[in-house]
Amino acid sequence: MAMIAKQCPDVSVHVVDLNQDRINSWNSEELPIYEPGLDSVVREARGRNLRFSTQVDHAIQEADMIFISVNTPTKSFGMGAGRAANLEYIEKCARQIARVSQGPKIVVEKSTLPVRTAEAVKRILATAGAASFDVLSNPEFLAEGTAVQDLLSPDRVLIGGESQTAISALVDIYAKWIPKDRILTTNLWSSELSKLSANAFLAQRVSSINAISALCEATGADVDEVARAIGTDSRIGPNFLKASVGFGGSCFQKDILNLVYLCEHFGLNEVADYWSQVVAINDYQKRRFAQKIVRTLFNTVSDKKICMWGWAFKKDTNDTRESAAIYICRDLLIERAQVEIYDPRVSEEQIRQDMYEIMQDGNGLVGPYKQSLIDRIRVVEDPHQAADSAHAITVMTEWDEFKDLDFCRIFEDMVKPAFVFDGRNILCREKLSQIGFEVHSIGKTSPLLI
Ligand code: UGA
Repeated sequence: MAMIAKQCPDVSVHVVDLNQDRINSWNSEELPIYEPGLDSVVREARGRNLRFSTQVDHAIQEADMIFISVNTPTKSFGMGAGRAANLEYIEKCARQIARVSQGPKIVVEKSTLPVRTAEAVKRILATAGAASFDVLSNPEFLAEGTAVQDLLSPDRVLIGGESQTAISALVDIYAKWIPKDRILTTNLWSSELSKLSANAFLAQRVSSINAISALCEATGADVDEVARAIGTDSRIGPNFLKASVGFGGSCFQKDILNLVYLCEHFGLNEVADYWSQVVAINDYQKRRFAQKIVRTLFNTVSDKKICMWGWAFKKDTNDTRESAAIYICRDLLIERAQVEIYDPRVSEEQIRQDMYEIMQDGNGLVGPYKQSLIDRIRVVEDPHQAADSAHAITVMTEWDEFKDLDFCRIFEDMVKPAFVFDGRNILCREKLSQIGFEVHSIGKTSPLLI
């Protein structure tokens, strides 16, 4: 919405939320999320044609077009728990729009939704007395960490709908800065399904290369060399083939599970099984990494200090949702390790909250034993401090600053043998091995012997 406000000074954008604290942050100098370049976009438009408030009813009444951008997490209870999307917030929005609207409006689904949700939104809106509605699907394809660039110059914008007039109204907004041939229009269901499919295909590439990484480690092939060799085939392409400790983020797993649930709903069990394997390989990759650490450290990490560099699910974001670091930290804590964590953008409060959530039992409680495990973590403000006296360093997030640290000093301060487990393949193996580290990377023969 900030980008629309920036690029279209003649369009008045009013962002509303029920959470006053969040709105206060959007109105302050300290935005609630870290995203490179976002500050200046917000600063340029805020106070001109971009407003943030909690006046939801008022904003609905004055709007010609309403974007529903609420979250749709995986359901944690009842039917479809663990797979289906929780559409509670979407439905509440639609009902509020129906209740408050007086004139005709275009309602745009921005949240990622299961296919045919627009149908439900339309039916709820139809219960409104005076107002008439057109529903469009306009899924978002930006990735965190590169959001501003992705919005400025997207590969494509997708708009699904039935009414040509409504579609044109939204096309006209994006056409202010995006070439028309990159604005695709489809029917509603194609648009909804394209969003889930795009994320499933992207996640599938990561799981495919991660599956190959396990085979590389077993055979002596190098996964980066394999990725380069296959990525130069123009039909395959070079992007999204970086082997890692496992994909995270709020979208991939949620959207695939959603797709799986949808397939099961339509009785397409083989299709459901096919896509659920992408998640299964991702879980395997995370588990495999933690197991490798324990095995390499002479089959025990009990009371050993393990340093973790990075907690966010990828670099250039402070988002930690579904980050592989959370699962690996849990597995190491269960082995009674002491984990010392440094991330340049994630707060200690967030890290403790993530650990608390993952340690919860079915009733949402954390017993004294699991609490004592969580108490074994320490969060520090400096990567050197995290590595000081550690038995091993693990790289969880590919932050650029980890590449150029003073590794000689770090080596001096560690327990020997000093191990490095690079879950992102960003560190220079040769350099570190020459210093004396035993380096284990993803999809490479380990350790490198010099
Ligand atoms: C993803 C999609 O890329 C966006 O197009 C989509 O709009 C977004 O989900 C969404 O549905 O909102 P995002 O989750 O922000 O974006 O981040 P990605 O760049 O896709 O990375 C996801 C995870 O895969 C990260 O943990 C990343 O480290 C990992 N990854 C990515 C790899 O391990 N290897 C790769 O080669 C690429």
